[in-house]
Amino acid sequence: MIIFQDVRKVYGKDKTKKVEALKGINLEVKKGEIFGVIGFSGAGKSTLIRCVNLLERPTSGKVLVNGIDLQSLPKRKLREERKKIGMIFQQFNLLHAKTVFANVAMPLVLQGKPKDEIKKKVMELLRFVGLEDKAHQYPEQLSGGQKQRVGIARALATDPHILLCDEATSALDPDTTRSILRLLKRVRDELGITILMITHEMNVIRDICDKVAVIDGGVIVEQGSVLDVFTDPQTPIAKNFVRTVLNDELPDSVKRLIAEKRDDQEHHIYRLLFKGDATNDPLLSTVAKKFPIDLSVYNGMVTEIQGSPFGNLIVGFNGPKETVDEAIRYIQSQNVTVKEVE
Ligand SMILES: Nc1ncnc2c1ncn2[C@@H]1O[C@H](COP(=O)(O)OP(=O)(O)OP(=O)(O)O)[C@@H](O)[C@H]1O
Ligand SMILES: [Mg+2]
Repeated sequence: MIIFQDVRKVYGKDKTKKVEALKGINLEVKKGEIFGVIGFSGAGKSTLIRCVNLLERPTSGKVLVNGIDLQSLPKRKLREERKKIGMIFQQFNLLHAKTVFANVAMPLVLQGKPKDEIKKKVMELLRFVGLEDKAHQYPEQLSGGQKQRVGIARALATDPHILLCDEATSALDPDTTRSILRLLKRVRDELGITILMITHEMNVIRDICDKVAVIDGGVIVEQGSVLDVFTDPQTPIAKNFVRTVLNDELPDSVKRLIAEKRDDQEHHIYRLLFKGDATNDPLLSTVAKKFPIDLSVYNGMVTEIQGSPFGNLIVGFNGPKETVDEAIRYIQSQNVTVKEVE
């Protein structure tokens, strides 16, 4: 649906002022996905997303949208293709002198659609975002969450195939963020719209994205399914982002216990990571029955990522090394990831 092929973007011509915002981006967003790109401020997120609808033109490389290279299109054709790409912004970008109705109607008015058609479409969209009773209010009479709902309704007015979200929830409180994320999920589930979103908030990625890419200094340093990146982040920056929402930092008392046991040849401590169905299996009791060892759970947490359970347990295995190794191999065969405790 959206393919980035070695996309580079350099701002500024003057050598001393040149900024290389994107340094060869390769990404593929599939139809119907909610794809999140996360990174710190200045990483190149906005530049990346703006290259999709050509609010920024790549310096080199290609962005294909539905197989079409928008850069190759003449102006009129480009305008047509852009209608299929909706966009929402952190600061909502509403017209303050116009009512909610007029804001949502704007893209249709620009297209010269007949009045009754516009009215029908706008009311349908306002119903979809839950604002049918606010049609005649002005943006300043709305809360941040309501303003973003207007932004979403306006972005959907041209029946886009793709919705681009540039930090769509960054100006909102946590509860409002959740309600906007639920709405975006409905945009995908009920309207079949592919969503590319950029954010610096890992909870946004956890709550609605299917795939995630981590961008740092204009480079994608890691990407994969949200479950994989959350449960087994590879790069330090991805680990940091994951830590912001899955606090797997051990309490000091547990750290002390682990340190005390470190020299005990009969005691081995591991971190077990359970994903999906594995979370429901009575694995530890099976292991205790199957192998002549004792188990102690030092710390544990179960959370939900993308509607799928994810468990993280710190377990002490008491017994001879060979037997413990055997038990660990058995655990690994049950689709549970086993790691050394750092
Ligand atoms: N129009 C521009 N002219 C010159 N440099 C720019 C321009 N827009 C962005 N940059 C630079 O490009 C780099 C990437 O900027 P970008 O806005 O894509 O980052 P971002 O990840 O969206 O950051 P934030 O989270 O703060 O919005 C930054 O170093 C920025 O200063
Ligand atoms: Mg930005």
